[in-house]
Amino acid sequence: MDYFLPMHNDRNIVNLALIGFMGTGKTSVGRLVAEQMNFEFLDTDELIQTATGRTIADIFAQDGEPAFRTLEQRVVAELAGRQKTLISTGGGLPTHLPNLTSLKQHALVVCLWASPEKIWERVCHQSHRPLLHNPDPRAKIRDLLAVREPFYKQADVLVNTDLRTMREVAHQVAHQYRFALSHR
Ligand code: S3P
Repeated sequence: MDYFLPMHNDRNIVNLALIGFMGTGKTSVGRLVAEQMNFEFLDTDELIQTATGRTIADIFAQDGEPAFRTLEQRVVAELAGRQKTLISTGGGLPTHLPNLTSLKQHALVVCLWASPEKIWERVCHQSHRPLLHNPDPRAKIRDLLAVREPFYKQADVLVNTDLRTMREVAHQVAHQYRFALSHR
């Protein structure tokens, strides 16, 4: 289920942003793509952790999710001046539409998609994501994914990761970037 949205010509695309649900491989794929394309790799969660000196789990626990979302918006705004950067984003970041609009000004936005079953397979052995500290994490994934789907589908390109290795996904993302820039 890969697809593309037509692009407006008033965008200055010099970066690549990866959006998508937790466990779709944004960080792993992002690092591979950045290496392949000689782009700098940035991760919005890491930027928040560096800026605050705290973990994401700690911010959620002490200050709550809305405070974390405000920090995300600040980081997105600061990315606007960058070039040749691969931006890996937190899974909830595109649900605030101005974040998506801001990224689209300077980046090709690629969504990594996965089914709830595949996401569960990938995250079930990890424990650092506060939103999945839930009595029924599988239901939480299904529900959150359903709510977020309309936001994720506003990406320029959607790449299904279910049946692809991270290397294949990275190859596809880099290809889509070159394709988008050569067809403007
Ligand atoms: C979140 C995803 C996490 C992190 C935070 C909230 C979300 O990032 O930003 O735990 O709302 O889906 P990853 O998608 O990199 O796991």
